[in-house]
Amino acid sequence: MRHLMNPLDFSTEELDDLFRLADDILLHEERYAHRCDGKILATCFYEPSTRTRLSFESAMLKLGGQVLGFASADSSSAAKGESVSDTIRIISCYADICAIRHPKEGAALVAAQKSRIPVINAGDGGHQHPTQTLTDLMTIHALKGQFSDMTIGLCGDLKFGRTVHSLIEALKRYANVHFIFISPEELRIPGYIREDVLERGHIPFEEVRRLEDVMPKLDILYMTRVQRERFFNEEDYVRLKDYYILNREKMALAKQDMMVLHPLPRVNEISVEVDTDPRAKYFEQVQYGVYVRMALILTLLELI
Ligand code: NCD
Repeated sequence: MRHLMNPLDFSTEELDDLFRLADDILLHEERYAHRCDGKILATCFYEPSTRTRLSFESAMLKLGGQVLGFASADSSSAAKGESVSDTIRIISCYADICAIRHPKEGAALVAAQKSRIPVINAGDGGHQHPTQTLTDLMTIHALKGQFSDMTIGLCGDLKFGRTVHSLIEALKRYANVHFIFISPEELRIPGYIREDVLERGHIPFEEVRRLEDVMPKLDILYMTRVQRERFFNEEDYVRLKDYYILNREKMALAKQDMMVLHPLPRVNEISVEVDTDPRAKYFEQVQYGVYVRMALILTLLELI
């Protein structure tokens, strides 16, 4: 039985297969409408979510399956003190596959170790978010046609942003990928990523503060929200929340074929005036997320 905890759980060849399947689903959705008949997906969300949870639910419903679950810790037995490992044993009796989101780093792994069904990490604290990465990669694959030979700028909360951590892990495996990390000092990428992932792997990267300075070099700009819920105090959050605001003026500095991605939700970091720029791809990205999750469900349930 197979789980998805980290983007590295799939080799690059397996990812190619997954994207090929997602492409086919996108083109021939009707052929997949009954692949999951009789199957149940559980969504166990101990943290707020709109896209990830509904995207999983939409994916399973489009495959003909059904969904059950909870959308907050308050509405589950966690409120009574039940552990994640007990909850997953219960869920294993009700469903065939489970997507779990939890504020604690490592919670999805704990669940996977006790589970009798495939478990998908839908975000564990400030650690990893592999299905957002599949969504990001699927968007890059569909719109750029390659993962190698590019400069990608990741901007905003690189410390707590789990989507950033997962995307770096996934992209470091491709040739000639150059990372530019754009953040205030307080929100730099964690030391373990800088040392264990990038320096040890001899992956080229630079860290800068000003977005304007690097804009002309980027093939992809990945914007992120400052993760308010992971801050220790409100004062720091208020000071840093509007550090970067991508607007028309900054977009004018970028290449004509640069692409702006964002895992969403957006707060102030991308001005709405950018939404109509053809290089803004963050709403298209959401649509790719459904197809890639359909492909993932089929793969983990071994229905292909
Ligand atoms: C992200 C997350 O939950 O980490 N959202 C998402 O799943 N698309 C990003 C965020 O909340 O900022």
